[in-house]
Amino acid sequence: MWGLVSAIIEAKNLTYDYDLGENVKINALNDLSLTVREGEYLALIGPNGSGKSTLARHFNALLLPTSGEVWVDGLLTSREENRWEIRRRAGMVFQNPDNQIVATTVEEDVAFGLENLGLEPPLIRERVAEALEMVGLQGFARHAPHLLSGGQKQRLAIAGILSMRPRCLVLDEPTAMLDPRGRGEVMEIVRKMNRRENITVVHITHFMEETLEADRIVVMDRGRVVLSGMPVEIFSGNADLASLGLEVPTIPRLARMLREGGLQVPKEVLNVDELVSSLC
Ligand SMILES: Nc1ncnc2c1ncn2[C@@H]1O[C@H](COP(=O)(O)OP(=O)(O)OP(=O)(O)O)[C@@H](O)[C@H]1O
Ligand SMILES: [Mg+2]
Repeated sequence: MWGLVSAIIEAKNLTYDYDLGENVKINALNDLSLTVREGEYLALIGPNGSGKSTLARHFNALLLPTSGEVWVDGLLTSREENRWEIRRRAGMVFQNPDNQIVATTVEEDVAFGLENLGLEPPLIRERVAEALEMVGLQGFARHAPHLLSGGQKQRLAIAGILSMRPRCLVLDEPTAMLDPRGRGEVMEIVRKMNRRENITVVHITHFMEETLEADRIVVMDRGRVVLSGMPVEIFSGNADLASLGLEVPTIPRLARMLREGGLQVPKEVLNVDELVSSLC
């Protein structure tokens, strides 16, 4: 059943068509195969309409393949009886923080999913406190979620997922509506969960800077995976991102220009610190 023991998400020959009725279909994923390894931090990038969100929704059984298969932590998404367990194990965070709030206090919001799982109240209280602590929102338990900042709201959404002890976090442009500080807060929590708790992360973003610390970047175009590699391979190699309408992040772009201008800047330079230490 499993090619690799270490695979946590596997899409096999996945095709998905949105059915608009009257025989009108939009093909969003086209025979796509992708394996996400356990513990991996995978950044998923690609132009608008390339199929990133459609793919992410398959990882959480919100969408089911038109053809092909998706496996999440050993569970086939198309089996009805697997659906809730898949949603618990692969929690999803969306772009708009306001759409993810379901309760009138922070603690009730985190407790919501746990109550649906049917856990006992003392265990729920313990898990809520633990999850709020993990995202740095301890002390906000009785606050009204709609009064939080955008970054705090996204951290609250992440806490709701963490309280369910997931194996995987699937984030679809979680920082798109946040200011730089909110973006930083969310990125820090996500990285911490990946490194400390070994939670697998699939992070969709249009902010190329956010992908620099990923273990791997997967680039999509027109419903397919067109590139896959470490950040240094994607941004410092010969990959033609411009033709996909994607930008190379500032530092690797600058490093390349300096190299072309004759300075000794190694190819691996991706961030400010690395650039400064290579120049000074
Ligand atoms: N609910 C829907 N009904 C019909 N077609 C859809 C729907 N959602 C997406 N599509 C189409 O499916 C294709 C893939 O869209 P998707 O939203 O997955 O792309 P994306 O890579 O997430 O884009 P973006 O960067 O804009 O978020 C596009 O052609 C899009 O128009
Ligand atoms: Mg999208």
